[in-house]
Amino acid sequence: MRQVYFETSQDPIEVETNRRLLDALKDSSADLLMACGGKGLCATCHVYVDHGAENLSKITPREQTTLRMITGLRPNSRLACQAKIRRGHVEVSKPGGRYITSSSQLDQLVGRRAQQRILHPIDGTVLVERGKIITRSRIRRLAQLDIDVATMRRRSMSLPR
Ligand code: FES
Repeated sequence: MRQVYFETSQDPIEVETNRRLLDALKDSSADLLMACGGKGLCATCHVYVDHGAENLSKITPREQTTLRMITGLRPNSRLACQAKIRRGHVEVSKPGGRYITSSSQLDQLVGRRAQQRILHPIDGTVLVERGKIITRSRIRRLAQLDIDVATMRRRSMSLPR
């Protein structure tokens, strides 16, 4: 078994050798969205590997292509659905913010201030800054988000895992 430490948690998450980082994190407090279904096409499983990057599988061309699009990319960025744990342990953290997959997810928040940054699920750009009031006009301006997500999901269905 391998261990994954998520952010400040002292308790490791146990996972079998060669399982995806995502498999360790999805039942944890990491609460990853997996908008593309784990196909390496989105930003919602983007993590920073703070320790133990050498214990993970190498970055594939598909992962590299997606990572290049992500705002907030760092040298230690990985996609949890693409990185497999080969040995030892790893420590990971998440970019701050909440991803959404549909503009309508903000409907119930109209008139309120965003408690955290609202992020685009494909490239991680900030759609609404923390503290900004969510208005109907702001949601209307996010119409492209729904088109982007539908296109990404169609593409993910044609790809092997
Ligand atoms: S779930 Fe989309 S890239 Fe990992």
